[in-house]
Amino acid sequence: MVARLAVLISGRGSNMAAILESCRSGVLEGTAEVAIVLSNIEGAAGIELARTAGVETRVVVSKGRPREDFEVELTSVLVSRRIDVVVLAGFMRVLTPTFVSVFRGRIVNIHPADTRVYQGAHGYEWAFENRLGSTWITVHEVDEGVDTGRVLGRAAVDLSGAATLEEVKRRGLAVEHRLYPEVLRTFLLGLSAVGVEES
Ligand code: GRF
Repeated sequence: MVARLAVLISGRGSNMAAILESCRSGVLEGTAEVAIVLSNIEGAAGIELARTAGVETRVVVSKGRPREDFEVELTSVLVSRRIDVVVLAGFMRVLTPTFVSVFRGRIVNIHPADTRVYQGAHGYEWAFENRLGSTWITVHEVDEGVDTGRVLGRAAVDLSGAATLEEVKRRGLAVEHRLYPEVLRTFLLGLSAVGVEES
């Protein structure tokens, strides 16, 4: 079965593009498809990117409204599109326990640091400011906490000689774009194996 993914973004969407590409002709081919790209921010660059690539897009604005309203609308879109797995890719909004309980075990996120030592936003700034010689990218399940879910995969980023924040980000993103589709593949195959056992 081909898993139907919803990719949630708030901005640029480079991980979304990498996942989309890999569904079409990469490691996720035959395993997953991007059914919809959703953004909580009007005008997010990644939405235009997805639209151009022929994927359904939807903006569900989060700003200026109660969290519950936003998540009720988000959930109804996801359910109506029969989404199997929710893929957070630069989605800058913490999801409530209510949302997490609806999709428990089926929400994943990519974090630009080692979640054991650094959680929250600005992982590359943290690595750069602390002059780390290397950092980690983490793909993890999403639970009720911020970057506290079960780790699904990690990859190191060599930062030796990286003199600017831009260079740190460039090296990190190159690793992210390779790691996320690979880890998703293993994760999805695990989910479908469970499905087979249960049926
Ligand atoms: C990435 O660095 C990701 O790890 C973090 O937010 C950034 C999103 O970048 N969660 P993009 O929108 O995928 O280009």
